[in-house]
Amino acid sequence: MSASKSDSHMQGRVIWITGASSGIGKALTRQLVQHNQVIATARSEDKLAQLQAEMPQLKIIPADVTQPDQLAAAAQQIETDFGHLDLLIANAGHCEYLDVRQFDSALVRRMMEVNFMGFIHTLEVALPLLRRSRYPQLAAMSSSSVYAGLPRAEAYSASKAAITQFMESLAADLRPEGFSLSVIHPGFVDTDLTRNNNFPMPLIMAPDQAASRIIRGLARQRFNIDFPKGLTWTLRFLKTIPYVLRHRITASMSRNTQHES
Ligand SMILES: NC(=O)c1ccc[n+]([C@@H]2O[C@H](COP(=O)([O-])OP(=O)(O)OC[C@H]3O[C@@H](n4cnc5c(N)ncnc54)[C@H](OP(=O)(O)O)[C@@H]3O)[C@@H](O)[C@H]2O)c1
Repeated sequence: MSASKSDSHMQGRVIWITGASSGIGKALTRQLVQHNQVIATARSEDKLAQLQAEMPQLKIIPADVTQPDQLAAAAQQIETDFGHLDLLIANAGHCEYLDVRQFDSALVRRMMEVNFMGFIHTLEVALPLLRRSRYPQLAAMSSSSVYAGLPRAEAYSASKAAITQFMESLAADLRPEGFSLSVIHPGFVDTDLTRNNNFPMPLIMAPDQAASRIIRGLARQRFNIDFPKGLTWTLRFLKTIPYVLRHRITASMSRNTQHES
């Protein structure tokens, strides 16, 4: 992490990161653990143990974000060890694409369970611990896919749009308590989640780069952390043009995607 002035806000804090075993969450963990007390959560105990071997100061608590009991036990452990939380980065997530020719409501449910309800379950157990911080901060991982109706992303982007909208209202309710809130909208990041994508991923970036952008946004207490701007502004512009033209563009993306699959 570069030592800019605002980065001093990201030091000496107790930070809980979910989805820390790989990709963006792992990169965030590696960068933040240098100056903070980081608790890393994911399902894969072996991957978390490897991370801890690399960074002995890291606290690992395996848990599945779809299982409220496991998250309650994790929060209990954090309370015992640290007494409070300064920052939650609810990053755990998964992506599956829908094939509308074989409509699959179970897939849609999985996306909502892991991405949206996973965030909600984590938030429920983290809030009491965050309320004990002098400067409580909450960050939720959404996606730039919420800015446009991208082909086959119905379930994934709906689960992420739910997070974005939830955070909008939550800001109204928690800011008066002194909370800083951020919702993160990355473009394409080169992780296990995108590895099998068979369509062009413009401006794709490395997890370390994404983590640095997120940490900078958190240090500056930005509500909307979105990057890279070249992609997110294009997607946001797409949303503003008349739907007839917009849907013609996204339908052509859909044809290309199906052609490649
Ligand atoms: N890569 C991108 O282009 C991109 C773009 C926008 C947003 N995002 C979002 O960024 C977040 C991180 O994704 P990534 O790209 O870094 O993918 P990744 O490498 O596949 O990481 C996903 C992380 O989430 C964890 N996870 C998944 N299901 C979980 C569950 N039920 N309980 C607990 N942990 C769970 C995984 O760990 P275990 O398998 O060990 O549980 C892993 O640590 C996701 O929310 C994703 O939607 C990614």
